[in-house]
Amino acid sequence: MRTKIFVSLILFLFNSQNVFSQSALPVGEGSDIVEDVCTMCHDLTNITDSKRSPEQWQFVVNQMVMQGAPLQDYEVDTVVEYLSNSFGIEK
Ligand code: HEC
Repeated sequence: MRTKIFVSLILFLFNSQNVFSQSALPVGEGSDIVEDVCTMCHDLTNITDSKRSPEQWQFVVNQMVMQGAPLQDYEVDTVVEYLSNSFGIEK
């Protein structure tokens, strides 16, 4: 009986952590691409913890494409714009 409660607690914690990591990204056009593609090799913390200018995001995203991120050209533009708006340098 106790074991069952313990297991439920673990599952609950696990699920709520998933919900938390999904809400880490602000909503916007491109957030779904970032969530799908940019989590393939690492988590989102090096994105959400950073602030970059549009030029710097362009550079990073190009680098990721060279690493093998499967992005179409038109998706690169959407992603760079989304990242610049969401994780840009304060003006
Ligand atoms: C094919 C694998 C791969 C994919 C997909 C990928 N990355 Fe990366 N990324 C890496 C590697 C490898 C590094 C360097 C090692 C690390 O920091 O984990 C990195 C590092 C980073 C960094 C830190 C760079 C720095 O100089 O501090 C950022 C920011 C980043 N990625 C953003 C993105 C974004 C945005 C996307 C989605 C467009 C993405 N990544 C998708 C492989 C990938």
